[in-house]
Amino acid sequence: MGVEAVPAVELENVTVAYGRTVALEDVSLRVAPHEFVGIVGPNGSGKTTLLRTILGLVRPVRGEVRVFGMPADTVGPLRRRVGYVPQIAPVDIRFPVHVFDVVLMGRFGQIGLLRRPTAADRDAARRALERVGMQHLADRQIGQLSGGQRQRVFVARALALEPDLLLLDEPATGVDPGARGSLYELLNRLHQEGMTILMASHDVAVVSQLVDQVACLNRRIVLHGRPEEVLGDEALEGCYGRGAIFLAHGRLPHIVVKTHPEGGTPPARPPER
Ligand SMILES: Nc1ncnc2c1ncn2[C@@H]1O[C@H](COP(=O)(O)OP(=O)(O)OP(=O)(O)O)[C@@H](O)[C@H]1O
Ligand SMILES: [Mg+2]
Repeated sequence: MGVEAVPAVELENVTVAYGRTVALEDVSLRVAPHEFVGIVGPNGSGKTTLLRTILGLVRPVRGEVRVFGMPADTVGPLRRRVGYVPQIAPVDIRFPVHVFDVVLMGRFGQIGLLRRPTAADRDAARRALERVGMQHLADRQIGQLSGGQRQRVFVARALALEPDLLLLDEPATGVDPGARGSLYELLNRLHQEGMTILMASHDVAVVSQLVDQVACLNRRIVLHGRPEEVLGDEALEGCYGRGAIFLAHGRLPHIVVKTHPEGGTPPARPPER
């Protein structure tokens, strides 16, 4: 069997719980190599948990997770193949650390093994910065960047290990609309270059224009398919609940307001078990 035949990510009937809170229930999902998949869903619907499960940071109570055909909690070889841009910045941006060093840290994996960076590490960090168009700011302190520039640096940090799969958790949070466009352009270019990307996002309209496949998550996968198939108003209501209002935005829906018609009860949150 050729390498291309193995899915980049494969979840089979995965259930994840934090104590009594079931965060993911019976989730099955496949990401093919070179595919760009978007995960949308309301707050608390399990998007971050899904990414952390794929990274092997959270262990499911049931089901199987494979990344490039290997169990997700396989340490070592998998870690180098998966880049991760977490929802919360992995460094304190008030700390006086240079952009280049933030990217270099990406070479040490998620655990941060203590070793001295080699020439190869520094070359890879430089290449990653070039890929996101930030090489000219390598010596700037991370706290002195705009939100959009900072997110590009965190993408570079995830690219420093030269991964085959990139996981991004709400990468456009805190980025103004102009810079957001160029961040999405960057992701689009990485996708065109062959990167497999799985991105959690609230921005349904943008996601639907970037991705090959979209999954609507609300503890379970409510819908999964090509954006134009999945993202009709009715279907989205099934994911976000009846309180969500969708405005047509050209052909694509745009979530602008979420109302809470039942007097503050968040919509469509399945009962905790
Ligand atoms: N470490 C944790 N311990 C206990 N419960 C958690 C933990 N992390 C997440 N949860 C719960 O699991 C559920 C899913 O959370 P998760 O962070 O995966 O959602 P999300 O879709 O990423 O939300 P958001 O859009 O706000 O980022 C929520 O009910 C959350 O409160
Ligand atoms: Mg999240």
